[in-house]
Amino acid sequence: MLKGKHIILGITGSIAAYKAAMLCRLLVKEGAEVRVVMTPLAKQFITPLTMATLSKHPILVEFFNPENGEWNSHVSLGEWADMMLIAPATANTLAKMATGIADNLLMTTYLSARAQVAVAPAMDLDMYAHVTTQQNLRTLAERGVAIIEPQDGELASGLVGKGRMAEPEEIVEQIKGLMAKKVDKTLSSKRYIVTAGATIEAIDPVRFITNHSSGKMGYAIAEELALRGAEVTLITGRTTLATPRGVKRVDVVSAEDMYNAAVEAWREADGGIMCAAVADYTPVAVADHKLKKSDDDMRIELKRTKDIAKELGASKEGRILVGFALETDNEAANAEDKLQRKNLDFVVLNSLRDKGAGFQGDTNKVTIIDRQGSTEHPLMSKREVASIIVDKIESINNR
Ligand code: PMT
Repeated sequence: MLKGKHIILGITGSIAAYKAAMLCRLLVKEGAEVRVVMTPLAKQFITPLTMATLSKHPILVEFFNPENGEWNSHVSLGEWADMMLIAPATANTLAKMATGIADNLLMTTYLSARAQVAVAPAMDLDMYAHVTTQQNLRTLAERGVAIIEPQDGELASGLVGKGRMAEPEEIVEQIKGLMAKKVDKTLSSKRYIVTAGATIEAIDPVRFITNHSSGKMGYAIAEELALRGAEVTLITGRTTLATPRGVKRVDVVSAEDMYNAAVEAWREADGGIMCAAVADYTPVAVADHKLKKSDDDMRIELKRTKDIAKELGASKEGRILVGFALETDNEAANAEDKLQRKNLDFVVLNSLRDKGAGFQGDTNKVTIIDRQGSTEHPLMSKREVASIIVDKIESINNR
């Protein structure tokens, strides 16, 4: 898959730079031609000699060679590349990418690159969680940069949390996936909204009601739609996931917020995929102070939230609307009821009785139900489920 592909490997000043050696080796082993561009600080973490030996080419750091004035053209490097991968990508480099600061060869190459760009962030957990870093990642994802998520684990600081660069093998797999996914832009004239994740219903300033949705299923759908060229608005509850590339993300908290954002986006949309786990009930009143405990039991009065899917279904006017059904019993009957009641084109049923299905994990097992009948699918990755759902949307478009 990577045979003969031109890959720029950008390395920045992080302790994870030592993993870039293995990464480079794996890319070369896959048949890729790799040119390494390092930031000046990266040279403190891994030597140019190591990277030049592994990539079989001199590494590039400066705009020109001070000895003989030879110019390292970032423009032709950018044109040469089929893929630009920055691994590790520090918080500093991500911030420069988001704001267009071109103060080293890696940054000027990034700004000149026409190819797909991917970054594998690596930093301490607090730097990664910082609102600025998260905002920068979101900005980059919205502009089409693929974010290879860091992992949870022990960090160089001794702290434990999210910020460890993904392992080289995982990065190579994702790069292969990105290169393979140069799919036809069959949905390029379409606009879709996707809801994802869990809503949060406040009880008081401290407590809330929510559920186990991680957002993974909805994010995979948003990513698949965007890959096929659609304009996607992802309306999302709280999640730790990175924004899929090319997707416009709208963050919401409560079911009411999600309803408002979805109704607004629906005006311009050609379709919607309702994957969020939306609270069906919310507290009647939200206390403005922390509720104090006493020796008595407590009762919280709940009222119904608005049903987003049902509302969009009522104003469908020929557009496509897909719903999910998360069930624990009486699965098919409940899903069929949702299909009719919410005026959906089809329902994606997942049951918590199936191992590996539903919340949190990377897999799902679904049955797709429409007015013609139902199709049961085996356990597969959420990415594959997303692909099946988008195939079905396309087949409805083509009717
Ligand atoms: O996020 P993950 O961890 O990857 O988990 C994925 C998932 C299990 C959340 C997902 O696959 C899923 O099943 N999503 C729908 C969960 C759900 O709330 O199902 P439901 O059967 O209660 O709702 C039926 C449909 O109505 C859903 O499309 C839901 O988005 C929609 N709905 C529900 C209530 C409401 N107030 N508004 C809605 O739009």
